[in-house]
Amino acid sequence: MTLLKLQHIMSNEIGKRSFLSRPPEPPASVLINDPFEAIFIGTTKIFKIPFSWTFTNITNPHISVVGITGAGKSYFVKTFLIRASYIWNTNAVIIDWAAEYKAWVKQSGGTIVSLGKGDFINIMDLSGMKPLDRTKQIITSFEILTDISLYPEQKRLTEEAIEQAYVNAGFNLSEKAPEEKEAPTIKDAISLMEEHLQDGTYEYPAELENAIYRLRQFAREGEDYFARKSTINLGKIAESGLVDIDLSNLPDERFRALAALFILQTLKERMRIEGWSETKGLKTIVVLDEAWKVASDEKSDAIMIVREGRKYQFGLIVASQNPTDINEAIFSNVGTTFMLRIKFEKFLNYLQGSLNFSQFIRSEISKFGVGQAAVDMAFQTAMRFPDIFVLEKIRGEEPLYVYTLDISDVLTQSELSAGLIQKDYQFEGDELKNKFIEYNINSDVINAVFADLDSKARSSKMLDFVSLLRSNGVSAQDIVSFMKSLSIEDMLISRIMQSTGGMNG
Ligand SMILES: Nc1ncnc2c1ncn2[C@@H]1O[C@H](COP(=O)(O)OP(=O)(O)O)[C@@H](O)[C@H]1O
Ligand SMILES: [Mg+2]
Repeated sequence: MTLLKLQHIMSNEIGKRSFLSRPPEPPASVLINDPFEAIFIGTTKIFKIPFSWTFTNITNPHISVVGITGAGKSYFVKTFLIRASYIWNTNAVIIDWAAEYKAWVKQSGGTIVSLGKGDFINIMDLSGMKPLDRTKQIITSFEILTDISLYPEQKRLTEEAIEQAYVNAGFNLSEKAPEEKEAPTIKDAISLMEEHLQDGTYEYPAELENAIYRLRQFAREGEDYFARKSTINLGKIAESGLVDIDLSNLPDERFRALAALFILQTLKERMRIEGWSETKGLKTIVVLDEAWKVASDEKSDAIMIVREGRKYQFGLIVASQNPTDINEAIFSNVGTTFMLRIKFEKFLNYLQGSLNFSQFIRSEISKFGVGQAAVDMAFQTAMRFPDIFVLEKIRGEEPLYVYTLDISDVLTQSELSAGLIQKDYQFEGDELKNKFIEYNINSDVINAVFADLDSKARSSKMLDFVSLLRSNGVSAQDIVSFMKSLSIEDMLISRIMQSTGGMNG
């Protein structure tokens, strides 16, 4: 009995079977774009095609970026923002959770807004919106950040008080607010609830007390970052070049998330009014890096913005070291995802489930060095080429630096004069960094070593270098493997180890 039967088939039939003909990268015509209308990112790994990013052939300009700490997310974002500003004059608003971008923004001549350290936001500010819409947004933020949705009566009381505060300040709830008119604050809404409580006419005073308590968390003296007159004009922020909103001085994650949600909501409203226009390019990029609940909660504006695709004149970049902090809807709706190095299986599973890539890509991602990335793009029309490909390296704006390890201090006089042994080893900074990562050297030690090298004109004698590694707790084993990878001869390696304390530790 035959189990297999040969099938007669025409070659054009075979051609239709994409698994047989599928090339490993999208064609050059898709990857290479007009340099005046696209952002160069890096060359592809297999065919070495220079890939430049543009929003024209993909579903929307929004981007997600994932990768472990040190993989190169922030570096990528900075490079992207600089080039977008050259090409489209794009403004940027960075919602800076941990002040990671602050120094760079300052250096680049941008504006820093320090919430919790001199700057305030009144979350009831309208920036031209209808008070009813703003009230809904505020309630949504509280739903994301507090347990208010479990208490419908408290939610209703809070909403009512906020609306009443607008009415008392002379606003019409269902009309767009005049720009110059000053909005009330959460403190006004709290006062209204307190008066209500003192009336003694409300039948569930405990509900009212709890609603007041919850709202007061955001209005306490000294922590009233969101309950005072705004010191920044959010309407202008999207048009002010490079702006860093430093949230690191706010007391906790909830405060940071409230600020992030408010900023996103406000920018979204501004941009909705302007609408998307292909010819104008990208007017603004909003960056959300490590923004915890803001990227994960279904109700967050981050998810709405990405779902609504090209409705706004701006692009959102959501970056995180923890892919599970990014809602699946973001991965499935953004136009582009950049995946840098990821090592945890559970994160790879989550990404692979969301983006549906091959085992090959999965294994590449887990092996990436700094700056290497897989790119997943959602093209506007279904095409017969893969929508995911690997970049050799994200090519950034930073200059290349060469580091030298000088081993002449371990060579004998006769070895030196014979000139048969290589006297120094040179590395490009990232290459050296990657090697360290490969040999399990942790980031604190890497920073210490680079600080030392940088202080010595990027050059070190081998014995000093190895002593520094040892004094930072790097094991003899890892140091030996590292030196072997540089093809240093075993005889010299043992000499180096002996001179720096032997093979113990
Ligand atoms: N593509 C790259 N080319 C050169 N250096 C890079 C690249 N990506 C990252 N780096 C360097 O590696 C380090 C870590 O990068 P960073 O962007 O801060 O990582 P992450 O934000 O993912 O934690 C930085 O010193 C950065 O300059
Ligand atoms: Mg970072």
